[in-house]
Amino acid sequence: MQDRPDLSFDAFDEAVSPRPEACEFDDVVTRALTRRGFLGGVLASGGVATLAASLPFKAHAETNRFPFAHIAANTDDTVTLPPGYSAQVVIRWGDPLWSDGAPFDPETRGTADTQARAFGDNTDGMELFTHSDAQGDHLLLAVNSEYTNRKIIWGNRADASDLTRDDLLKGMRAHGVTILELARTNDGWAPVLDSPFTRRITPETKMQITGPAAGHPLQQTQADPTGTTCLGTWNNCGSGRTPWGTYLACEENFNGYFSASDPAHAVTPELARYGISARDWGYGWARIDSRFDISQHPNEANRAGYVVEIDPTDPTSTPKKRSALGRFKHENAEVVIAANGRVVIYMGDDERGEFLYRYVSHGSYTPDTDPEDLMTNGTLYAAEFNDDGTGTWRALTPETTGMDNGEIHIHTRQAASAVGATTMDRPEWVAANPTAPEVYCCLTNNKNRGLKPNAGGDATPATGPNPRTANPYGQIVRWRPDNGDHTAPGFNWDLYLLAGNPNVHADAYAGSDNITPDIMFNSPDGLAFDSTGLLWIQTDGNTSNTGDFAGHGNNQMLAGDPVTGELRRFLVGPNHCEVTGACWSPDRATLFVGIQHPGDKGDSHWPDGGDSVPRSAIIAITRNDGGKLG
Ligand code: FEO
Ligand code: CA
Ligand code: CA
Ligand code: CA
Repeated sequence: MQDRPDLSFDAFDEAVSPRPEACEFDDVVTRALTRRGFLGGVLASGGVATLAASLPFKAHAETNRFPFAHIAANTDDTVTLPPGYSAQVVIRWGDPLWSDGAPFDPETRGTADTQARAFGDNTDGMELFTHSDAQGDHLLLAVNSEYTNRKIIWGNRADASDLTRDDLLKGMRAHGVTILELARTNDGWAPVLDSPFTRRITPETKMQITGPAAGHPLQQTQADPTGTTCLGTWNNCGSGRTPWGTYLACEENFNGYFSASDPAHAVTPELARYGISARDWGYGWARIDSRFDISQHPNEANRAGYVVEIDPTDPTSTPKKRSALGRFKHENAEVVIAANGRVVIYMGDDERGEFLYRYVSHGSYTPDTDPEDLMTNGTLYAAEFNDDGTGTWRALTPETTGMDNGEIHIHTRQAASAVGATTMDRPEWVAANPTAPEVYCCLTNNKNRGLKPNAGGDATPATGPNPRTANPYGQIVRWRPDNGDHTAPGFNWDLYLLAGNPNVHADAYAGSDNITPDIMFNSPDGLAFDSTGLLWIQTDGNTSNTGDFAGHGNNQMLAGDPVTGELRRFLVGPNHCEVTGACWSPDRATLFVGIQHPGDKGDSHWPDGGDSVPRSAIIAITRNDGGKLG
C-alpha cells in the first residue's frame, strides 16, 4: 500500500536518518533510581515546596475534587465513560461541511473534490470561539486534521501502484484545519452546514510567512522569490488560542511529505536534522506537486514546521506562519499573558531528544495592542533543566548561537543545541494552570533515552526530568517560574507523574506513587486544564495490553489533581485510537474530545459499528444531569 506502512513518524525519521552510534554515558544502570529515591531526591535538593507525586495518598480517597467515578481500563471498541455521562458523535472524517457536499461513501472513501468540502481525517488539537455579529452569537470550532491513515483512506485500492492522482490529492486534502460552526439540535451537537464561517484550510491554502525568517534567503523559492508567501499547512497536531481570538495550528511531522525525484540527491545536514530525506512517508505528494520534491525545491521544506495563526471569524483571511515561534516539530502552543503583559508561549518539539521552548514578546498585550507586533517581535528560549530541580531559559540570539536571527528561526533545533538546552523525552502538549503560576508538559516516551543521542548528536543521559533509560512509559514534568513570573529567566521543576507498570516492575519503571494497578497508562500526550484547575491528560501509547503494557488497555483520558497528585480515569477510547484534543462549551456543560486514528492497527469499526470503515471523529460528552464538566 505504501512505502513505509508500519512505521511511526519517529521510526520513519530514524530509518531515513540513522542516529549516530551510542555516546559514552555514565553507567546508566547505576543511575536507575527507585521510585521513592528519585522523587525524594528531587524533593530534597529541588527546593520545591510540594512534590505531589511523591506524597503518599489513597488513589480513591474519600474526599477528592473529581466529579466522576474512576473507570477501569478496557480494550473495548467503543468510548467508555463513568456512570452518569454520555457521548455523541459530532462529526467524522469525510462528513460534508456544506449541504451540497456528498455524504461519505464507504466504498470509495471519497474523492479529492468531496474531501475538499468535508471534515478532514485524524482530528487533533481544537479550540472553540464565541463570535458575535448582527445575527447573534456563533460558536466556531477550529480543529486540526493531523494526518491520514493511508491504509484506511486508500483502503479501496489494492496497493500503492493503484493510486491515482485523485487519490493522492484526496489524501492531501484530508490534512489541514477545519473551521466550522456548531449548534445544539434536537439530536445533540451538530455542524451548521453552509455557515458563512465554514472553511477548509489545506496544504493548498495560501499563507503568509511572518517574523524573523520572512524573506530570508533560506525561505526563497522558485514560486516565491520574496520568501514571504507559501502554500498550505499540514500535519497540524496540537493547538493554541490567543487572547485576541485567533487559533494557533501547530505543524508537527511536516518532514515526511517531502521526497526527491533524484534518488541520488544529497540532503543537507540542516534538512536531515528535521528528518527530511529522499523518500517520503508514503503520501506521494511530490508526484502531484513539485514543491514537495526537495531535489527541485530544497527551500520549500524550510517553509514548514511553524505555528500558523488563523482568524476563525474571517474565511477570507490569510493564515500567518509565525516564524518568531521557531521552526521545529511543534506539538501545541500554550499562550499565557504574564503579569507584566508580555505574551508568553510555551511549546514542545515532539521528537526524541529535542527541546522545550518559550517565546516572550517584546511588547505587552492590551486589548488595543497590535497582535502583529506581539507575534513578530520577541525572544525565543530553550529550556535547560538542572538535576537540582532548578532550570534556566536559554535565549536563542545571534550572540548565543552564532547564527543570524533569520536562521535561528529556521534552524531552531540547531540554535537550541548551540546553547546546550536539555534533550527531552519527546515534549508533547504544554498546559498552564489557570489557578497557579505553574506549567505542565507531557514527555510522552523515548526509547533512545540514555542509549542514543538526538539527531543533532546531543547526548541524552538519563537524568533530570528524563530519568529513565529507554523510557517506554513517559512522564509529566512541571515547572514554576521564579517569582511566579512567566518571563523570569529561571524556574523550579519537578515531576508530576512517572507513568509505568507496578504489576510488572518494582523499580523506576513501576511509575510514581500516583500510578497504581488501577490507574496505569503510557505515553501521556494531550494536556489541558479545565476552569476548576483539574488537569486532563490524554494518551497516545502502546495499546497491546501485554508485557510492559499489560493492564493499560486502550488509549484514555484521565483527570489529575495538581495539588494532591491524585489521578482518575474518565474515558477509554475505541481500539487503536489516540484520544486527542479537548475543549469545553461556553457553559462548561459539554466537553468536546477528539478520537484519532481508530483502527490504525486494523481492528476497529468505531464509531458506526458492524463492518464499517473506522473514522476519526469529535465526540461531545455531557452529564446526564446537565451539570458542568469542568
Ligand atoms: Fe502529533 Fe506529538 O503528537
Ligand atoms: Ca500529540
Ligand atoms: Ca498518534
Ligand atoms: Ca503522541
